[in-house]
Amino acid sequence: MDYFAGGRFTYDWTSHHLKLWEELLRDKIDTATAVLEIGSFEGRSALFFLQFLPRSHITCVDTFQGSEEHVERGSQYESDMAEVERRFDQNLEPFADRVDKRRGDSVVVLPRLAAEQRLYGLIYVDGDHSAASTYTDARLGWDLLDNDGVMILDDYRWGRDRPAAKSPAAGMEAFLQQIAGEYELLHRDQQIVIRKIPIGETSIGATKSFTIAGRDIGELTGGALSPPLVSFVVINWNYGRYVGETIDSIRRQDYPHFECIVINNGSTDDSAEVIARHVEGDPRFRVETLPQNHGQLGAALWSLDKVNGGFVTFVDADDVLFDNYASMHIQVHMALQRSVGFTSANVAEMDPTGKALTASYQQLRLNRPDAQRGLRGEQTVLRLPTVSPSQYRFLDANTATIPRWQIGWLWAPGSANMFRASVLRLLRLDDGSNPRMTSADGYFNTICHAVAGSALIDMPLSGYRLHANNYFATGESVEGIRSGTRDYATKSQEFTYESVKYLIEGSDRFDWLLGAEFWPVVDRVTRENADKLRDYFRNESAVGIFRRNAPQLRSVFGAKRFAKEVMARFSGAQARSILRAGFGGQIPARHLYNSLSRDFRAFLKRKRKR
Ligand SMILES: C[S@@+](CC[C@H](N)C(=O)[O-])C[C@H]1O[C@@H](n2cnc3c(N)ncnc32)[C@H](O)[C@@H]1O
Repeated sequence: MDYFAGGRFTYDWTSHHLKLWEELLRDKIDTATAVLEIGSFEGRSALFFLQFLPRSHITCVDTFQGSEEHVERGSQYESDMAEVERRFDQNLEPFADRVDKRRGDSVVVLPRLAAEQRLYGLIYVDGDHSAASTYTDARLGWDLLDNDGVMILDDYRWGRDRPAAKSPAAGMEAFLQQIAGEYELLHRDQQIVIRKIPIGETSIGATKSFTIAGRDIGELTGGALSPPLVSFVVINWNYGRYVGETIDSIRRQDYPHFECIVINNGSTDDSAEVIARHVEGDPRFRVETLPQNHGQLGAALWSLDKVNGGFVTFVDADDVLFDNYASMHIQVHMALQRSVGFTSANVAEMDPTGKALTASYQQLRLNRPDAQRGLRGEQTVLRLPTVSPSQYRFLDANTATIPRWQIGWLWAPGSANMFRASVLRLLRLDDGSNPRMTSADGYFNTICHAVAGSALIDMPLSGYRLHANNYFATGESVEGIRSGTRDYATKSQEFTYESVKYLIEGSDRFDWLLGAEFWPVVDRVTRENADKLRDYFRNESAVGIFRRNAPQLRSVFGAKRFAKEVMARFSGAQARSILRAGFGGQIPARHLYNSLSRDFRAFLKRKRKR
């Protein structure tokens, strides 16, 4: 077929590709393919696409100003570009209703097409031939290419005699390197032709499953190793108006290996009916009903006997998870330099009706002292098929591991956190049979971090809803303004004595598990800086905890260490009351002496000398 009959042309950069194109595009003949062409010149290639794909529609992007080689005096390609445009218009006139001509620089036009949410099944990159422009056109074009779409990059071998920056090859190589794993190579010669592999079908090598170094873990282990199970625990108290959306957002997860327990926590509104409607027909969901409100932490502790997953997220029943929530968290857990207690991702704060207010939470900041940025090499970790290589690189650039000795509130709240179930169980305050009217994150984030560290993912993976009945937040997090209530902050600080008590009561077990970290962990769960610790322990609650557990502390750590740790936190009469309890009423002279104030010891020394 003569695609160019009756047209007006000067150069022909097209005809010698037709055989290849006809072969590659044959299966698109019957489909209404949207074609994007970057660089149209007189319209030769556009004419081919329009006629070979009779149901297609083409967007032609061209400055009609030419590239360097068209405007250079004496160049073999020198062209009068105004004439070129006139010829383009004339040549394509018969197909006017299928052509969308966009006169302009591709770097301006392509983002506009993206903003218009256009997607193409075929993209031809044949604009400016410098390495930088080729890279930019291909990169911007890639995001406009539909799953399974084909991209043709022209002139791979053109300009070999020119400096690398002035010919396309280096730009193409850089582009291909960046989208490694996201494409299938269909042809490589003067033109490079690639197909976009749909995410989910396979974006890692040629396999559809979880991989290590590109190999399917099922195959590597004969099926003995399988992907992690995530347990979502939705804790709902009278959020009938929101909980349906929360459940739907969990159902939409692109990570299939999850279970979800929805706890109706003593609700008196229409929650039960809303929950039943939204979980219907999905065996991954189970509903548990508590007759009375157990508090969020109470319900979370109670749920720990019921979850099967290796990873757990307590979901607030007024939040929504993005569909890549589980994928991203699990990918980070599998790829951190060191495994941590939990991951915390950023959140988009939204108003009661779901309209976004921010896309980040004030306290979640990666640039903290000692934070370790990045993930391990992609080939050395368990890779998920739902996280593409470019998303992996994004996670790599936007994740930081925070060492456990950093104190303070460093995370996004509630639903934003995915814990290791083993660490939750290790630090399970009680079995949840009694209500605990406080937040699950207030307890678990602080203690899990103090023991095992945490990692931050600076990418919103859930929507955090702000409304009149929030437990904690009074408004969106804005620089310079506290977003929590005074009451909550005070209550939550007081609650830290429960964590201290739990550790001290369990000193026997924790001494073994934490080793030299036991005492630093006790100090870190107080959330106080070193200079405030003595004030914190001066509180009668702390004295009581230590006094009651003094005999056990003495037996676990030995007399000397026991006395030393007590004295590091308490002084005077308080210290002596704890020591007395630990030594059965009689404090040995050496320890008694050390418990005295410095002035009094100096006085005794002077007296002895005399
Ligand atoms: C080699 S020609 C295209 C040939 C055409 N695809 C064909 O096969 O007949 C390159 C075209 O790219 C256009 N061009 C160069 N730089 C551009 C840019 N930054 N944005 C859009 N078009 C550009 C030039 O004006 C020129 O018309």
